[in-house]
Amino acid sequence: MREKSLLTVSVLKADVGSIVGHHITHPKELEVATQQLENARKQGLIVDFRVTHCGDDLDLIMTHRMGENNAEIHRLAWETFKEVTEKVSKPLKLYAAGQDLLVESFSGNVKGMGPGAAELEFEERTSDPLIILLADKTSPGAWNLPLYKIFADPFNTSGLVFDPNLHGGFIFEVYDLHEDASVKLKCPEELYDLLALIGDPNRYIIRKVYRYDGLPAAASTTTKLSIIAGRYVGKDDPACILRAQHGLPAVGEILEAFSFPHLVPGWMRGSHHGPLMPVSVNDSQNKCTRFDGPPRVVALGFQLCDGKLIGPADLFDDPAFEYTRAKANEIAEYIRRNGPFIPHRVGSAEMEYTTLKEVLDKLKNRFSK
Ligand code: F6R
Ligand code: MG
Ligand code: MG
Repeated sequence: MREKSLLTVSVLKADVGSIVGHHITHPKELEVATQQLENARKQGLIVDFRVTHCGDDLDLIMTHRMGENNAEIHRLAWETFKEVTEKVSKPLKLYAAGQDLLVESFSGNVKGMGPGAAELEFEERTSDPLIILLADKTSPGAWNLPLYKIFADPFNTSGLVFDPNLHGGFIFEVYDLHEDASVKLKCPEELYDLLALIGDPNRYIIRKVYRYDGLPAAASTTTKLSIIAGRYVGKDDPACILRAQHGLPAVGEILEAFSFPHLVPGWMRGSHHGPLMPVSVNDSQNKCTRFDGPPRVVALGFQLCDGKLIGPADLFDDPAFEYTRAKANEIAEYIRRNGPFIPHRVGSAEMEYTTLKEVLDKLKNRFSK
């Protein structure tokens, strides 16, 4: 039985249309979504919420007492995305209106229906700092490297060495996208096993992280639209929920993992590797323009207060991340010069769409041994 007092943080996200091309959400989309969630808050379904965006993705951050994978919460998100599509995206002919809503009607859980969901249920601590990460133009495995650094690398998180509450390590739940199965690995003991899996973020994705004693620490989205739909339907820009401080990695240890703009798949046509750039949620940075990118991440910080979200603090809005942004742009410039060649282009199995089959068909009689 679930305890009624437990709090759940749910982040549900979808790309339901944007201006111009796959660039940025329209302010009216945020307005309509806010209205929907405000109604749900008044009715007591959710405790609190924030509506925000990362590039062209609409993100619903909600707190409630209904637990993870709750049908009513998922229905609320689904209907909100539908409402935004019908009231704003379609009438304004926004680009790719309703893109991530892959099915006609809701059937109990958004998983497998298009939108991404990250959810974490826990008992609110005396003071509970929360970080929500949102990314655009990349895919769920993008969190593998930073989550590894945050929860398993003492060169990133000094608390693993110095804080007695972190010293026992963390348990990583790794989800295998191909097999639809997951495994829990305890670190540092099974560090090499963990890396053997998560080094392939196209297949293995860190879905949850728990402290050694079971305390819930992080949750991420694992939706792969192309696997659901069996064809290219846009990129599954991921979200992640992390709790911080007091026996968990500090806010600065979580953010430190993003000081290295590691390479992630996504960017133009979901088919190019590029550096993940940490940016402010402010519109001057939070939009993908160069070659529809480069991929980027925003970090919103909240204090929880009896389920209410106090914040957000715009955590990458710091000159200290300018070096990382400059480095990301340098890497972007370098890798772009590789044009349509691997490793800028992702491997053939990871291409979101390709003309290769047509080209081979056309040339088949012209190949000679
Ligand atoms: C990547 C992305 C964009 C589009 C590109 C082509 O995740 O959303 O880079 O893939 O703009 O879009 P279409 O195929 O809609 O013309
Ligand atoms: Mg889009
Ligand atoms: Mg997007």
